[in-house]
Amino acid sequence: MSASPSSLHWRRYGDCVSSLIIASNRGPLSFRQDADGELTSTRGGGGLVSGLTAACEGHDALWVCAALTDGDRAAARGTSTIDESPAVRLLDIDRTTLHRAYNGIANSTLWFVHHHLWDVSRQPRFDAAWRRSWRAFEDYSASFAEAICEHAEQGARVLVQDYHLVLVPRLLRERRPDLRIGHFSHTPWATPDYYRLLPDDVAAQVLEGVLAADHIGFLTRRWADAFLACAERVLGAEPAADAAGRVGVHALGIDEKSLRDRASEADVNGAVRRIQGLVGGRQLIVRVDRTELSKNVVRGLLAYRELLQSHPEWQGKVVHLALAYPSRHDLPEYREYTAEVQRVARDIVDELGTPEWTPLLLEVDDDYPRSLAAMRCADVLLVNPVRDGMNLVAKEGPVVTDGNLTLVLSREAGAAEELGPDALLVNPFDITGTASALHEALSMSASDRAERCARLAGSSTALPPVEWVSQQLAALAR
Ligand code: G6P
Repeated sequence: MSASPSSLHWRRYGDCVSSLIIASNRGPLSFRQDADGELTSTRGGGGLVSGLTAACEGHDALWVCAALTDGDRAAARGTSTIDESPAVRLLDIDRTTLHRAYNGIANSTLWFVHHHLWDVSRQPRFDAAWRRSWRAFEDYSASFAEAICEHAEQGARVLVQDYHLVLVPRLLRERRPDLRIGHFSHTPWATPDYYRLLPDDVAAQVLEGVLAADHIGFLTRRWADAFLACAERVLGAEPAADAAGRVGVHALGIDEKSLRDRASEADVNGAVRRIQGLVGGRQLIVRVDRTELSKNVVRGLLAYRELLQSHPEWQGKVVHLALAYPSRHDLPEYREYTAEVQRVARDIVDELGTPEWTPLLLEVDDDYPRSLAAMRCADVLLVNPVRDGMNLVAKEGPVVTDGNLTLVLSREAGAAEELGPDALLVNPFDITGTASALHEALSMSASDRAERCARLAGSSTALPPVEWVSQQLAALAR
């Protein structure tokens, strides 16, 4: 949603005290400032933002988040809350502090540890420069805690989101024992051996940060168990046993109606026609990801190449549309990974393409209507992350499909816990195994596809975002 500046009603944040506070690094609104200094805002469209926003209705809620863009900072300086539901408090955190906390710790350390992304012969290196980033992360966390306390009325509920804010529950507990605090992890949690790559004091500090919450939420049982196993190994049996009763599993699903409505709008219909023109009646394998190290795009492309080599009967009869959108380009690993994706894609087209047939179409510019269109057109949806908290693409595909897509799904995605029985599960490191699953998916009978796809759509919509939040609020009330 875009709002013109005149439609925003500002009020001073000092006036705003709330009984329900959401806290996340990236907020629901992003601001842009034009040359004349005018601000416009865009509302994020993901399931999480819309679910949390809907859950805020009727609660006089406030969302506390970091100012990430120059526009956000300008908005934060102007006032700081916006009189919409929920009101938004943007934190204008010092740029260096934010950079060290977000890129140095959240994205390069906590994201890497929970997704098991380090190539341990070289990384991680916890040196003096890293310690400086860790201190910035502590300052950043304190900024959040202070702002939340400023706005929280007595006994308010605070829903703290994700790895960026793992230290915040404890900082809140120390400052405000009256608050009811929930923390939710949208990522996997590392296994104990991997988690213990972190410096010992930091490993303990992160766990103690989260353990201070009254309710500790995860997307799957597997990540919840990993968290408890880390707590036991790092802190001992007693804190882990105490935490077990406060841990909850809430498997975020899709809001069927709003997704279907969005996927049938004119811009998506136009993109469907364009994709159909490119595919020309062949079968279509689709992937939709950020170009994120954990998403395993390169092995996915290599599996597609192996499919075409080991089953040459598919040459000329199938097209792979790989949508791999830019992500976290401040980090060199991500820039290098994006270049590798592009290189491998070029090699496949050079090696196997013919004048009549382009086997692979790689698109790297972000285009949400095209993503929905690609999922609508897909015969096979490939979701093969090396490790993933849930993966909502795996749940969106079966809901929007025009035909009946077959889902090839990594067993390391959280979504495999619910969708596994009706997907073709793969070990994401096994390229040959993934190529075989793609072959099986392309060869599946129409009736098998239809039955599986109907069950996949049912599982994907079992816990829509609004109910997902309600479950957590109910757990906090107990
Ligand atoms: C993914 C993860 C979330 C995380 C988000 C941060 O969507 O699933 O757990 O909060 O990335 O992305 P950002 O672009 O803000 O770094």
